Amino acid sequence: MLTEKKLRQWVVLGTGGTIAGTAAHAGDHTGYRAGQLGVQALLDGVPGLAEALQGEVLLAEQVAQLDSKDMDHATWQALAQRGQHWLAQPEVGGLVITHGTDTLEETTWFLQQVLASDKPVVLTCAMRPATALAPDGPQNLLDALAVVRAPEARGVLVVCAGQIHTAHAVQKVHPYRLDAFSSGEAGPCGWVEQGQPRWAHSLAPAAALHAQAGAALSRPVADWPWVAVLHSHAGADARQVQALVAAGVRGLVVAGTGNGTLQAGWLAALAQAERQGVAVRLCSRCSQGQLVGTPEGLPLAPLGLNAYKARVSLMLELMA
Ligand code: SIN
Repeated sequence: MLTEKKLRQWVVLGTGGTIAGTAAHAGDHTGYRAGQLGVQALLDGVPGLAEALQGEVLLAEQVAQLDSKDMDHATWQALAQRGQHWLAQPEVGGLVITHGTDTLEETTWFLQQVLASDKPVVLTCAMRPATALAPDGPQNLLDALAVVRAPEARGVLVVCAGQIHTAHAVQKVHPYRLDAFSSGEAGPCGWVEQGQPRWAHSLAPAAALHAQAGAALSRPVADWPWVAVLHSHAGADARQVQALVAAGVRGLVVAGTGNGTLQAGWLAALAQAERQGVAVRLCSRCSQGQLVGTPEGLPLAPLGLNAYKARVSLMLELMA
């Protein structure tokens, strides 16, 4: 039987991002290079980390080193595999993942769908490079470790700028501000204050795994179904839909205007796409709320997801 002490190990997986970014000058908050420093260097740069851990063990592993605008399915699969490996270790209490902010919400939703564990996974990031005069990464990392070690933490969460977000609600809403993430109408599920999480509400137990999660961990990524995102807009041209179908797209997530309305020309093109076997899901390009009713008679993206997370869900659905 494991002792309580042995149960307290935490793993930090590095994937790059601005949190690991470096710039030529301390004043540079743009024009830096993301994904330069290794995850161990990030941990070494957190003042007070040893005291905060109170003797608990921290392990670090570099899974990727990229600017998250370049996040790809192969890296997602590697991250899920390494995450699953570590979560299966009885001594490991949970994972922290350092990640770029730009596609963080997509990775978070992907991991929420495919990781089979009751243990928490907390993604964190930074808006300023590690070389900035006042970098935000070290505080975010310390806060993420406080959250992952909290007994109330469940599922896959994001910690940034003192706020805790669920995978379902989190969205990047600002290109520059330190508090670049929002949970929209839901609000954050908690805050980190003086190293202690304060929860807005209790978190649901980790959702049942999607049947296709195993496929996401094992199927060669070249065989993952191609799912694209389209946004309806003034002057939208049906040839955009037709070109994707002709090129072999398997699924289309369409962000409609307002309550999911689409340019007239798109309706016929999407109906034709469906007849040709392309799965279509509708969501709204509005950043808040979710669709009401069944606009345009098209199947809705599940759970009121935004287009980018709905793309992940549809891709996983099509793997089944
Ligand atoms: C990235 O997403 O990797 C770069 C931008 C950031 O982390 O803020």
